[in-house]
Amino acid sequence: MAVATGHGCRICGGPVAEMLDLGRHPLSDAFPRPTELADEFFYRLALARCADCTMVQLVEEVPRERMFHHDYPYRSSLSAVMRAHFTATGRELLGTELTRPGAFCVELGANDGVMLRTVAKAGVRHLGFEPSAGVAELARRQGVRVSTTFFEEETAAGVLAADGPADVIYAANTVCHLPYLDSVLRGARLLLAPDGVFVFEDPYLGDILAKAAFDQIYDEHFYYFTAHSVRATAARFGLELVDVRRLPVHGGEVRYTLAHTGRRTPSAAVAELLREEQERGVTGAEALRRFAADVARTRQDLVTLLRSLREQGRTVAAYGATAKSATVTNYCGLGPELVAYVCDTTPAKQGRLTPGAHIPVRPPAAFADPYPDYALLFAWNHADEIMAKETGFRAAGGRWIHYVPTVCVR
Ligand code: SAH
Ligand code: TMP
Ligand code: ZN
Repeated sequence: MAVATGHGCRICGGPVAEMLDLGRHPLSDAFPRPTELADEFFYRLALARCADCTMVQLVEEVPRERMFHHDYPYRSSLSAVMRAHFTATGRELLGTELTRPGAFCVELGANDGVMLRTVAKAGVRHLGFEPSAGVAELARRQGVRVSTTFFEEETAAGVLAADGPADVIYAANTVCHLPYLDSVLRGARLLLAPDGVFVFEDPYLGDILAKAAFDQIYDEHFYYFTAHSVRATAARFGLELVDVRRLPVHGGEVRYTLAHTGRRTPSAAVAELLREEQERGVTGAEALRRFAADVARTRQDLVTLLRSLREQGRTVAAYGATAKSATVTNYCGLGPELVAYVCDTTPAKQGRLTPGAHIPVRPPAAFADPYPDYALLFAWNHADEIMAKETGFRAAGGRWIHYVPTVCVR
């Protein structure tokens, strides 16, 4: 493929080459009612790589208000594993970067307060940015202070004027969602105290490629970071990559720590990950070409399996109406004729249809009523948590269908 897209890198303006075209896709978190199907919004889901700064990014940008609004359904606190992860994160920040009296913590993408509730309970000054007003209201009920504006340069300046500089700016699964990362980084640099840190964690391109996890690609995930691309980007805005840590959550992430340039000594982990990326070729174009071939194979294998199960008269449902699954269903052409329904704990998704593919979403209680013969695990990043509570399914003879890193039945 490798066709130039006509416009440059969203970060550095450098030349970008298109590496993977997944076709037309609906918004990944817009679950229509049966009466709303005519109103679905579609865009072209394609991935490009910048030849200069190596940043991997989407070719088309969806306007942010279409994705993040009052009815944005995703709720971070619905996973016990993620609740524990963010409680531990809050405690760690309290014990390291937030120890001085009057310390101030800002979070981008505070969602339902899953991280900041720990900071709030400790009585530490904080502010969460959460433009999706529905989930922001849930955070407020946890005692978290929230602004329902989008974090960017202008809103960062407002916080600086009202609350003073931040010791910590934290964001999980949010920085990669922000095409206007230039404005976000200018805002972070403005708002950060001289010795403050900007800590953010997002899906890691190295893991996405290694697992052929093409379903990490969707409208909300605009950037696909590596230590190389984050370091290069930070440097353009007077910030320096001073630490990295790999995280097992959401299928493999990296937590990046940025500081004002020259204020902290980069850890050995930074050099280590940069070296590993070089050795594995994670930042090069060739890795993305291999990935594109892997993705096509997964689609072929998954569609072949599901069609053969249908021919055998087996029942197939899915588990977890994830945003990621919109990429799987729409790229592979899976509708209710191949996957009868999908079970999900999110109240705002239940009773609706999945985006584009229109598979009905049911509450988890429907899973055992009766069990399907096969269940396609869309929420593969929560596999341990789901397997632990759905032991009855396999006991009843049910089998899970996995598609990451390759299609298999277990
Ligand atoms: N941090 C949570 C939520 C991630 S979902 C977690 O890891 O589970 C991403 C969140 O970022 C959404 O709730 C969305 O509304 C919010 N968001 C989108 N743009 C934002 C911006 N510019 N500033 C702050 N939050 C934003
Ligand atoms: P995520 O992969 O983006 O975190 O989305 C997970 C989706 O799966 C979300 O819609 C909630 C749902 N889910 C369940 O239905 N059951 C579970 O046990 C977990 C952890 C998630
Ligand atoms: Zn670039």
